[in-house]
Amino acid sequence: MVTSISHSPAETQAIGESWGRAASAGWLIGLSGGMGAGKTQIVKGIARGLGIRARVHSPTYTLLHCYEGGRLPLVHVDLYRLSSPSDVWSAGLEGYLLEPSGVTVVEWIERWLPPAAEGGAACGGASFVPAPFRRVEINLLDEQRRQILYEDIGA
Ligand SMILES: Nc1ncnc2c1ncn2[C@@H]1O[C@H](COP(=O)(O)OP(=O)(O)O)[C@@H](O)[C@H]1O
Ligand SMILES: [Mg+2]
Repeated sequence: MVTSISHSPAETQAIGESWGRAASAGWLIGLSGGMGAGKTQIVKGIARGLGIRARVHSPTYTLLHCYEGGRLPLVHVDLYRLSSPSDVWSAGLEGYLLEPSGVTVVEWIERWLPPAAEGGAACGGASFVPAPFRRVEINLLDEQRRQILYEDIGA
């Protein structure tokens, strides 16, 4: 588990940017953390690290956005409005999650892969987890500070 503290949105974006630079095809990055934790800030950084120039914003009214034009395509998924792994399956999203063609980043990953602590298996409702999978948790410490933890699974 890698832990860091971010003191600003720019610092959170810089963390995402370093991941974007390091990412290779097939990566799944799953983000957990409540509303306003900074998940979308991380995604903005990942896009920049991949060399994507488009402005990234949360896909609130659609389930996903695809960004081309970078080193790898980025698929940005937001599962906020889905409540369970079966919803994710019904929405036809599993392909993006299980076999990312480039990099897939998922906000509210726990809607698809409940943490083991909540009684889910390590893989939640999915039959397997693609490798490599970076599971990220963002905790709001105060107005400006965020604790960002991640673990690479199956890498
Ligand atoms: N250290 C920080 N990292 C990320 N966001 C921060 C930080 N400090 C304050 N913020 C603010 O918190 C909000 C995070 O929003 P956003 O990334 O959309 O969250 P989420 O996608 O998790 O709901 C933004 O308004 C941002 O300016
Ligand atoms: Mg968001």
